[in-house]
Amino acid sequence: MNSGWRLSSSVLVMLAAGLLAVAPGGTRAAQLRDPLQPAGHWTERNFGDAPRPPMGWNSWNAFHTRIDEAKLLGSARVIVESGLRDLGYRYINIDDGWWLSRHQPDGRMVVRAGIFPSAFNRDPDRTSFRPLVDQLHAMHLKAGIYTDIGRNSCSQGYPQPDSLLPIGTIAEREVGLYGHVHQDLALYFDEWGFDYIKVDGCGLNAFAPDRPAVEAGQFRAFPAYVVPDSINQTRVAKIRALYTEVRDELIRLRPAGNFVFSICNWGTANVRAWGRDVGNLWRTSDDIDGHWARMLYNFDSVATRELYSGPGHWNDPDMLEVGHGDFDAHHLAAARTHFALWAIEDAPLIIGLDLRQAPQSLLDVLGAPEVIAVDQDPAGNQGVIAYDSDDLEIIVKQLAKRDQKAVVIFNRGTEPVKATLTAAQLKFAVDAPIAVRDLWRRRDLGPFVGETTFSLAPRASMMLRVTGRPELRDGVYLSEMPARIYVAADGIRALQADPQIHRPVYMGDGTTRGAGPRPALAGWGGPRADSTPYDNVLRLRGETFRSGIGALANSRLEVRALGEFARFTARVGVDDSSLERATRVRFEVYGDGRLLAQSPKLAFTDPPYALAADVKGVDTIELIAREFGDAHAPTLVTWGAAALTQAVSRAAETP
Ligand code: GAL
Repeated sequence: MNSGWRLSSSVLVMLAAGLLAVAPGGTRAAQLRDPLQPAGHWTERNFGDAPRPPMGWNSWNAFHTRIDEAKLLGSARVIVESGLRDLGYRYINIDDGWWLSRHQPDGRMVVRAGIFPSAFNRDPDRTSFRPLVDQLHAMHLKAGIYTDIGRNSCSQGYPQPDSLLPIGTIAEREVGLYGHVHQDLALYFDEWGFDYIKVDGCGLNAFAPDRPAVEAGQFRAFPAYVVPDSINQTRVAKIRALYTEVRDELIRLRPAGNFVFSICNWGTANVRAWGRDVGNLWRTSDDIDGHWARMLYNFDSVATRELYSGPGHWNDPDMLEVGHGDFDAHHLAAARTHFALWAIEDAPLIIGLDLRQAPQSLLDVLGAPEVIAVDQDPAGNQGVIAYDSDDLEIIVKQLAKRDQKAVVIFNRGTEPVKATLTAAQLKFAVDAPIAVRDLWRRRDLGPFVGETTFSLAPRASMMLRVTGRPELRDGVYLSEMPARIYVAADGIRALQADPQIHRPVYMGDGTTRGAGPRPALAGWGGPRADSTPYDNVLRLRGETFRSGIGALANSRLEVRALGEFARFTARVGVDDSSLERATRVRFEVYGDGRLLAQSPKLAFTDPPYALAADVKGVDTIELIAREFGDAHAPTLVTWGAAALTQAVSRAAETP
């Protein structure tokens, strides 16, 4: 199964850095030689239509494959009539179950008109979703469709007793995109007029030659490119290439950019590192369900990925389970917590509930305007963990207005907790009043100075907007502007599963047989805001930095300064928690391709080195940590208190 894994470690570093797909600065050959070579400009690719996290509704969590037109339009009508549409919920997305077959020999996809009557055509091979899409458009909504990157779908790979499955010969049942990218996307976007596509990945993991259904001759075999619990056996480059082909075809079909491309490969294949280059959103984990523990797993899979998300490109912890199980109308505190967590992480807000049945109390959760506004804040900064423990977390998100932050204080545990929120956690001045607004109650609470304390029941959270005087009066810490940082090279040499993500019981086969769900999603070691890559506080020779960027050596970060600042400063060095202590690291600062400042080669034992650079007029700053010597273990580097100051205009107020 691992025969496809033949990448050398240097190619792996470049893959993780996204350099094999695009090499915008310098020549491709030059960047292949040195992934740390400065690009000279902001290299993130912009495509599609997702300046804010997409919002809408999807059929899967409510109906699985038992979707039909009446159910879909029923929820769509509630979205319009309840005012949810006007709060931003626009996309009505059909998930698995819509397809009947792939007509042969022309390969045209056929809609299951029995459940989507408006798709009916007298010629059964010419069914069309156009009437349904037109109807949604007439309601001022947008329409989304679903497919798979392989030949077959998830419901075929993991059928449930009542699944509505494609019918016909083996070829007629091959409903996925593989080998049909142009044909299918042209049908979905040109002929049928869809606006959004979710591309699942089961065709790449559920149809390996040893699968019983494949051995029984029901499906053509497809090598297991995705091995969900083994990143080292997963064919990262091939998977990335398949999704990139879809992106490129969408750009060709919709040159104006009016599409949204949702990658659904469940956080596998190191998608953390390349999702931003290929899709508008990418799933960071396996499927959510209505259990609290499962929601924690999905949340944790995004919570430390703050440097990978930003306008146009979003981490996707999966669709909402508000209204189901532990988040139903009898558990409104937990439902609010789930929704608040998605909002502070800039997650796509895709409702998964049969809205025809939804009580007002749940519509009120989904329609909380000030909570939605946090998710949709134009700066697009994902929340950053300010306080972390297994029981309680505080997450802070810099909003577009420089003096405003959103905060979620989140009781994950089973005991009531008294949680103290400090000005320092907010990076606000300790001696100036901080105004507090409760975003659920839409009420101002009294202001505080220094710190304030809340009592939180188990599974409850507070969601606040706070307004105060920024600690840095004339600038911004880099960790307060994660949306404006692009991880061009993460320095990871060998992919490792992230041990911090909650591992709920009942994953996998849904029982507790076997050894349990072990860490599986790559990403351990990626750069972080206000943390080392391995989740420690940033520390150089005993000096702790509450603000800063932690990374591995041999990383290159692009920072979008947009000419708004005059000066870059940081205190840099090899972090006290570094695993490698024998090599040395040079910290280099480039501005639009020019070397502006660099440190000497710093050893583990060196004190923090003060770096400063004049960045007036600079659009893109690049921060490079270059390692010298043979490393036998990961070297952790810290850009302590890294900041852009002397704001030239209204720095950091604009996205
Ligand atoms: C899963 C996917 C779900 C849903 C389902 C359909 O792979 O993560 O969101 O689309 O397939 O079968």
